Amino acid sequence: MIFQVLILTLSLSDCCTINQLQKKTRILRGNYKDVLNFHQINLISTKNTYFNGGQMNSQLNRDVIYYVNGGIGYTFCYLNDSIEISLFKKYELNTIVIQIWDRVVDVFYNFQIYVSFLDEEKLVYENTSFAGVVRIRFADQLVDKVRIYNRGGSNYNGYLSIIKAQAFYHRYN
Ligand SMILES: *[C@@H]1O[C@H](CO)[C@@H](O)[C@H](O)[C@H]1NC(C)=O
Ligand SMILES: *[C@@H]1O[C@H](CO)[C@@H](O)[C@H](O)[C@H]1NC(C)=O
Repeated sequence: MIFQVLILTLSLSDCCTINQLQKKTRILRGNYKDVLNFHQINLISTKNTYFNGGQMNSQLNRDVIYYVNGGIGYTFCYLNDSIEISLFKKYELNTIVIQIWDRVVDVFYNFQIYVSFLDEEKLVYENTSFAGVVRIRFADQLVDKVRIYNRGGSNYNGYLSIIKAQAFYHRYN
């Protein structure tokens, strides 16, 4: 009898500890959703960063991305500046999906993407000539800031223009 109670207690504590751990992990990973989304309270620095067509139409973390042309629908910064997104809290992440402005066929940009935690930065992507959507996978890590650096502008001008960016934890395998 005592033995059975002991087993029951053991398995119960096992179950709940694991469940609590899973719950904590899930929360730390932003419930596996996009943590850049504007529904979160994230801060896109307005220092060096501009919103073409008004912030509602152009923030790179908005939901509605259908209304985009040469003058509306993207967040941009000048050459050698960065677009910085500070997360409201830390998350464990491993994936960023980003759409660089690509509304004409032969435009290409030179840029880098960094993630950081407590000001320690790690380069997760760079390309000297890219436009369109890229999905970036990096090793699981805590993130409190994402920085997109305009290293060379585009073949048209010095700006770096971004239609949409997302960051989340994906369970690969
Ligand atoms: C950008 O940085 C490069 C390398 O440091 C420099 O040569 C160039 O003059 C800078 N351009 C602008 C517009 O700041
Ligand atoms: C950079 O972008 C080009 C497409 O423009 C692609 O072919 C190449 O693989 C990219 N490089 C990296 C390092 O992702």
